[in-house]
Amino acid sequence: MEKLVALCKRRGFVFPSSEIYGGLNGLWDFGPLGVELKRNIKELWWRSMTQLREDIVGLDGSILMNRAVWKASTHEEQFVDWLVDCKTCKARFRVDHLAEARCPLKPSKHPGECGGEMTEPRRFNLLFRTYVGPLEEESALTYLRPETAQAMFVQFRNVLETSRKKIPFGIAQIGKSFRNEVNPRNFLFRSREFEQMEVEYFIRPGTGLEELEKWKEARLAWYESIGLPRHRIHVRDVPEGERAFYSEKTYDLEYTFPFGRQELEGIAYRTDFDLRQHGAASGKPLDYFDEETGQKYIPHVIEPSGGVDRTFLAILCEAYDEEDVAAEGGKVEKRVVLRLSPRVAPIKAGVFPLVKNNEALVRKAREVADLLRMHLRIFYDESGAIGRRYRRMDEVGTPFGVTIDFETLEGARSGAFAGEKETVTVRERDSMRQERVRIAELLEFLRLRVS
Ligand code: GAP
Repeated sequence: MEKLVALCKRRGFVFPSSEIYGGLNGLWDFGPLGVELKRNIKELWWRSMTQLREDIVGLDGSILMNRAVWKASTHEEQFVDWLVDCKTCKARFRVDHLAEARCPLKPSKHPGECGGEMTEPRRFNLLFRTYVGPLEEESALTYLRPETAQAMFVQFRNVLETSRKKIPFGIAQIGKSFRNEVNPRNFLFRSREFEQMEVEYFIRPGTGLEELEKWKEARLAWYESIGLPRHRIHVRDVPEGERAFYSEKTYDLEYTFPFGRQELEGIAYRTDFDLRQHGAASGKPLDYFDEETGQKYIPHVIEPSGGVDRTFLAILCEAYDEEDVAAEGGKVEKRVVLRLSPRVAPIKAGVFPLVKNNEALVRKAREVADLLRMHLRIFYDESGAIGRRYRRMDEVGTPFGVTIDFETLEGARSGAFAGEKETVTVRERDSMRQERVRIAELLEFLRLRVS
């Protein structure tokens, strides 16, 4: 994990927030490559939900909502963790993360384990409070949303009427959520500001368990499509005592991170709890007349709720690899490579002139770069030995390297394109195999392999 965190910092994936001021615990900034990877994850999720399906439409709700929403959803009252403090070193823990009765920390000021006695557990609400308007008074109080879901419930009627969907149908949303976590930890895994990708899928009563199974399969297939194979994801049937009280069945999709097996996404059958609560609290019933059955009912809900940041972290953990490769002079050197799925890779191709002190080569390489950049995110690099440039791209998961060499200008020396000009060398990241491709066919060649 340390190696991955270091790579993220070194190569501009993730930086600690406000770092020059000492940072702020549980908050992270996504750097130039991180923001691309994150956008790709979100874009692929959005596409799979709203473009490739006819039964789901999108929403972009506001982060601040009327406080009444959080009362009706029970977050104001019940969105709590239990915490304990160590009486000796003052460290604070979420209770479910603390098996020991004694403090397990090894703070630098205490030689050996701290082992201090713990306080009694206390309730702690995770909502971030804020005030709307100039006065910090009770009537102006609301919260930063701790999940994106609620906007999709309270806009149920508006979306239904404007999109003219019929049940079963869903609303999809991606957006920031905020939780004042007691101890944020494990890098991006548990942070205080993060992004969620959630669907609220409205169904007929009585079809919940069947629809839940379909969603489990759909979500596993999606993770597979972005580089997290099925056999790497554990499906956990959450036992009754651990589910939300209104959920009839919940699956957690878990990934084995270097710090243990943990939740990536929850898929919950929430019955009619949400629409019933908001209908009752607002006085505007959120029911549905089903023309097919002639019945009026409050729709039930399946909610697949995933985290962008956790997916980002799982993808990087899965992709990180080190291997020994042959280097110049018969030496062996270590290659760090992110074996990212080309679909999520922040850069799709590196473009390199073989050497930078040849004007014709550089001009041609720039031409190729300009041709590709209209369609794909590429990175042009002319500094250093070509092997070094390949390694730099391997380390950030770039699936292809395109090299413009003397054969591009003078004609290929051998192979299928012998004698032909205007071809380039394309190197594939994982196998490091190289092949020649015509510049005229290069865009199509890459496009087929990165989307
Ligand atoms: N609307 C349901 C809901 O929010 P959740 O299990 O509390 O359910 C859903 O959160 C997903 O959001 C989690 O599976 C995880 O991927 C992500 N998530 C939750 N809390 C997080 C945190 N503190 N940091 C990063 N991601 C988090």
